[in-house]
Amino acid sequence: MPGKPSGMRIRGAGRGRKSLAARADRHELYEAAVQDPPTEVELVARQFKRLRKRRGLTLREDFCGTGVFSLAWAQSHEEREAWGLDLDRETLDWGTVQRLRPAGEAVGARVHLLERNVMTGLRKRVDLVCAFNFSYWIFKTRAELLRYFKAARRGLVDDGLFFLDAFGGTEVPMRDRNERSERGFVYEWEHEHFDALTNELRCAIHFSFSDGSKIERAFAYDWRMWTLPEIKELLLEAGFSKVRFLWERSDEDGDGTGAYYEPKTADNEGLWWAYIVAER
Ligand SMILES: C[S@@+](CC[C@H](N)C(=O)[O-])C[C@H]1O[C@@H](n2cnc3c(N)ncnc32)[C@H](O)[C@@H]1O
Repeated sequence: MPGKPSGMRIRGAGRGRKSLAARADRHELYEAAVQDPPTEVELVARQFKRLRKRRGLTLREDFCGTGVFSLAWAQSHEEREAWGLDLDRETLDWGTVQRLRPAGEAVGARVHLLERNVMTGLRKRVDLVCAFNFSYWIFKTRAELLRYFKAARRGLVDDGLFFLDAFGGTEVPMRDRNERSERGFVYEWEHEHFDALTNELRCAIHFSFSDGSKIERAFAYDWRMWTLPEIKELLLEAGFSKVRFLWERSDEDGDGTGAYYEPKTADNEGLWWAYIVAER
């Protein structure tokens, strides 16, 4: 969710009155379509308790964007505190004004959104470091990703856990567009280009509206798609003692149930999405 991506365009609609696209707030649309902070907080809190037999209290959210995950962490327990790190001032400010302040002082005082490089980290060591929505895929070489994993590990207390996510599957390495109707708009995820030589993946999010207007490339990403074995190897090389993959259980219709397990093997699917937990 970096600043406004190059190539962002508002297209179409309404003479006179502003179009729905022109009136929309791309951070709000992103949050509604992509994020579910309370559910994700519950997942990491439960996994921390399962693996460490204590309650996780302090959390660093790398690539925090608007910081809604950090906020949900602080809201989940009165002793919890979160530090969100992101380079993008506009996005941090949006989160502070639109989400942190309305949440009230008691919670807001336990959420710290900092304009800072994740490589720098914090002075303070925390129970959990989380980097979600594949943001670490901006690191495109083994050397860079290893440096980041080392920085995340340095930021953890002795029994701390590092949480990441990743996606893959047969549908990913090709041009593709997927649409989903949300309340009041259509969310579109596009794979603009996948380079078979480098595994670099350029993707974008577009939003369209009932009056025919559209925000094209509201968010755009330039990533290297890392595979699970590569990620595991680099985490171990960075010094983490154990790496676990969490896979979502599905029901008879193949829909996710929200319950996760650690598979011994995993059949490749059209599209899968996994959490990764690394133990310091
Ligand atoms: C895909 S968004 C992720 C937002 C949020 N974590 C989420 O789950 O939706 C990636 C964010 O990473 C930030 N970013 C990119 N490189 C960074 C770096 N080296 N240090 C801190 N933030 C960075 C961008 O500004 C952007 O807000």
